Amino acid sequence: MIDKLSEIEKSALESLALANDASSLDAWRIAQLGRSSPLMQVFSGFGTLSKEERPIVGQAANKVKVALEAALAEKTEAVKAAALAKSLEEEQLDVTLPGRTEHIGRLHPSTQQLRRVLDILAEMGFQVYTSREVETDDVNFQLLNFPPHHPAREMQDSLYIETEGREENPILMRTHTSPGQIHAMREYAKMNPENPPSIRIALPGMCFRAEQITARSEVQFNQVEGLAVGEGITFSDLKGTLTDFARRMFGQNARTRFRASYFPFTEPSAEMDIECFVCGGKGCQVCKNSGWLEILGCGMVHPNVLQNGGYDPKRYTGFAFGMGPERQLMLRSKMNDIRYFWGNDVRFLEQF
Ligand code: PHE
Repeated sequence: MIDKLSEIEKSALESLALANDASSLDAWRIAQLGRSSPLMQVFSGFGTLSKEERPIVGQAANKVKVALEAALAEKTEAVKAAALAKSLEEEQLDVTLPGRTEHIGRLHPSTQQLRRVLDILAEMGFQVYTSREVETDDVNFQLLNFPPHHPAREMQDSLYIETEGREENPILMRTHTSPGQIHAMREYAKMNPENPPSIRIALPGMCFRAEQITARSEVQFNQVEGLAVGEGITFSDLKGTLTDFARRMFGQNARTRFRASYFPFTEPSAEMDIECFVCGGKGCQVCKNSGWLEILGCGMVHPNVLQNGGYDPKRYTGFAFGMGPERQLMLRSKMNDIRYFWGNDVRFLEQF
């Protein structure tokens, strides 16, 4: 019986050596120390032993039980330690590595500036009116009072899409946001043809020109057009509105000036300059030593344009203006190359 016990102990310890994870240790415990294990059979076989044998076998069996339990505890610890070492090895954490930067999406700088402009105009009561990018020659030019042979209508300056069979009225990409004036006026006038309602809208969007792409000119750029039409609107309203806009956009101390200019669709026409915010008007590279930066074109809506929009020029007047968000951004951030806007260089985009 004693031999049998040492046999049990020996084979149990041998199989324990092969158990290397929690589940095989559990299986081993059931096989070697469980109710039907060889060792426990010895305990339950006590009844068949003689009085003299019992204490000897009992002591020996207990010793084996204690030894196996101790071996199991030891092995369990060892397996746990090995598992920990393995996971530390596999999931190494190097706290000296630089953190991963979070790449959060952002709006394109043009969109950001476009929205700044629209936010200010909204505060001033101008509602956004979205007009189409693909236009017909009549809306882009003719109805805006462009004379038939105006240089802007040349193939070299405008991106024509369809000319065949429609020589009189080809389809082109809008060269400015001003054609939206015609669409908007006609839509408003339709609401009440006898008494068209007054209008105060901002027309944002992409414009296209057949330009050679250089640091200073692109084939596409955004514009924001403003249009106010009503009874009794004067040039003073135009100046007041745009001066106020400039202060909201460039700061309360921004000085402005108006210069006479020419656009076919406004009369009189002007351009507004703001005092150079880089040099404060002293003269620098950005303002080309003039002290002023041109930021928009404007004027009183030409009577022919009002007429074409369905507004009686004897009764209604209005003003319009157009500006370029990319140009404003270039001035503001002293950018010297317009090609960055559509170059999609993330290093440029991430600066805004
Ligand atoms: N459409 C003109 C341009 O593209 C800008 C402008 C808009 C001028 C409205 C006067 C009034 O340059």
